[in-house]
Amino acid sequence: MSIIKELEKELCKKVKKLGYPLEEIKFVPSSRPDLGDYQINDAMNLGKILHCNPREIAEKIMKELETDDRLERLNIAGPGFINISLSSKFYLDAANKLLENLENNIDRQPQKKIFIDYGGANIAKTLHVGHLRPADIGEAIKRLTKLLGQEVISDVHFGDIGRQSGMVIYEMKERFPDLVYFKEDYNGEEAELPITKEDLQEIYPTASAKAKENDEVMEIVRDITIKIEEEHPGYTALWNKIKELSKEDIKEIYEKLNTTFDLWEGETDCYPYLPETIDRLKKQNLLYESEGALVVDVKEDTDTEPMPPLVILKGNGGTVYQTRDLATLLSREKRFAPDEVWYFTDNRQELYFKQVFRVAKKGKIVPEPTELKFFGIGTMNDRDGKPFKTRDGGVMSLVNLMELVKEQTLSKINTNLVEDDKKHQTAEQIAIAALKYADLLPCRNKDFIFDINKFADMDGKTGTYLLYSTVRMKSLITKWNQDVNKLKITKLKDISDQEIIKTLLRMPVILTNAYQEKSLNEIAEYLYKLTSTYNKFYAENHILKCEDEELKHSWIALTKIVYDTNKLLLNTLGIEIPEKM
Ligand code: ARG
Repeated sequence: MSIIKELEKELCKKVKKLGYPLEEIKFVPSSRPDLGDYQINDAMNLGKILHCNPREIAEKIMKELETDDRLERLNIAGPGFINISLSSKFYLDAANKLLENLENNIDRQPQKKIFIDYGGANIAKTLHVGHLRPADIGEAIKRLTKLLGQEVISDVHFGDIGRQSGMVIYEMKERFPDLVYFKEDYNGEEAELPITKEDLQEIYPTASAKAKENDEVMEIVRDITIKIEEEHPGYTALWNKIKELSKEDIKEIYEKLNTTFDLWEGETDCYPYLPETIDRLKKQNLLYESEGALVVDVKEDTDTEPMPPLVILKGNGGTVYQTRDLATLLSREKRFAPDEVWYFTDNRQELYFKQVFRVAKKGKIVPEPTELKFFGIGTMNDRDGKPFKTRDGGVMSLVNLMELVKEQTLSKINTNLVEDDKKHQTAEQIAIAALKYADLLPCRNKDFIFDINKFADMDGKTGTYLLYSTVRMKSLITKWNQDVNKLKITKLKDISDQEIIKTLLRMPVILTNAYQEKSLNEIAEYLYKLTSTYNKFYAENHILKCEDEELKHSWIALTKIVYDTNKLLLNTLGIEIPEKM
């Protein structure tokens, strides 16, 4: 448990002894630091519950708390807010506890098994800018959830079936009609794919353009798509090969973004669970025919928005996106029985997931207590407030954006200190860090503008600034060249030292909030706050030149805590720290 939470708990016990029905005491960082470090607002609530004057309650609480020597400068403001500060001794002890173990700055969540679905790349299609945020946010939330003690299983849920499969197979047939997979009597033979990853990136757009212009082509594509869905032997075998090739390509991009999954499954991996999914819906009498398809009603009396029925099977008996999401839920339930399933996808799929969750519950595909949650993600826009486009107006691919970002970063940073053979890798690391930080800083579900001119700046709220400062902390520790693990904090000089410790002690609440909101915004802001607080102190003091050895050691130890904290949080955001910068 975090040091602050422990203190809150102890104080709560004391207040309860006074007979007040109090669940917890919360230290709220003060908006008036001149009056105290924290505010305790719980007397206000008690006043309401007990129909008493909150100020009188606050006075009684204050009297009780005054006996605690860790607390200082207690006073009451307004109708019953208690201002408190913590003693220097408390801050010193707290700093040493953090030095010992950063676990002392983390509040665990009640243990649960959580399944996270994020990423959502589509096979044989180029990853575009819209896939960046679901990857960055999902990955960071996964890491945060693990950090807070949960068991997590992650799945990318590739889009590996649908129109694009028909397009690609159509184009392959045009280009390589003699491929074994196209033989009338195909009987399971294997053949090398005659295309590379690079070819594949161009095949889907080419076919798609052809089909758009020519209805006949579109008809053939439709036919092939249905055949693949019906598992036509040759087409399916070829599509599987293409899937493998495309997965490799996509994995490489995810790897660059430090994003990885426990399961690299796709929509079609649910096929073995389809019959039972449909059976369960039938058993609950939910399926009925509408306009040739089989659908399920999901409307509830309390709905204030339109809630159309959800199509489960097409007229030809074929499955759709949602059928596969439902069967995937059954598969996840049977294999892992998670307590909660979380989806991170762009905001536009909100209604869709509402429908799917209702069908899953009504059809008893997942048990009643299993929580299904959708977390919508806002769009990253260009400076004109519109989605990123290439120069010729097309959708910008993620790889293109990453290249652009690398160029910008390289133009702004100075890599003189870095060995020649590491320059390229370092530049890439910094670029990815800057991009990811800019992506995680806005609230999860808000659209925002990504300013390609500013995001890599050395100053300001950027990944570059954070990395540069963190690397500098490390180099200070290395320069001192003695065993930091033996250090203790025994002395502090002034307010700016204490300000760092105060800021450090805010971390548990920041993590808890981020976890509750499923947004990395507070962590990103906090990293900046902690780093700039430290940098101010760094500028004011020549740490390594300090002649007071005791103070110097304490300062180096303090640097180590901030460095370790930055490392922990950057890692949680999926950001790597370069060796040198
Ligand atoms: N492939 C989908 C897309 O590109 C996202 C998948 C989201 N996850 C899910 N289980 N449906 O929009």
